[in-house]
Amino acid sequence: MAKTTSNATTSTGPTTRDDLIAGLQSDIAREYKAIIQYVIFSQKLDGAKYMNIADQLAVHAHQELDHALAIARQLDYFGEYPTHIPDKVGVSEDNEGMLRADLHAEDDTIKHYRERIRQAEELEEYALGEVLRGIVEQEQDHQMDLATALGVVPDDRKRKSASSRSASK
Ligand SMILES: [Fe+2]
Ligand SMILES: [Fe+2]
Repeated sequence: MAKTTSNATTSTGPTTRDDLIAGLQSDIAREYKAIIQYVIFSQKLDGAKYMNIADQLAVHAHQELDHALAIARQLDYFGEYPTHIPDKVGVSEDNEGMLRADLHAEDDTIKHYRERIRQAEELEEYALGEVLRGIVEQEQDHQMDLATALGVVPDDRKRKSASSRSASK
């Protein structure tokens, strides 16, 4: 899995169909991971402060399942067998650690979907591009829910530049 992931994200030159398919396999692996984290963390978050976000995480779990099904359908369209192996699941016992693990997973997922949309368009796979756009819109909503609960900026590029500015002060 690691090999196909790095191929899909670091390839130079024109995108090939193999790059796109390897990328979709890594996307579905991240969706499985997201389902698992949201199933567990929606139940393990505790304390009155986190009740609202716990309910949101349960909604996210269902949406991640929809994403996995949509990606599986696209892989089937290309005649590929979807992987059954999830990406490495983040584990934490404390409320903030769980939310941070989910937020980082969403940051990573969004970064990869942006690349996948670019690859799909390059290969003139416009229907796939539309499916991916619908997914990334929901991923950004997830990112926003988590960032709001943590009191940080949703856009991770902005968050990183803000933290490097405060580190250099
Ligand atoms: Fe997802
Ligand atoms: Fe998500």
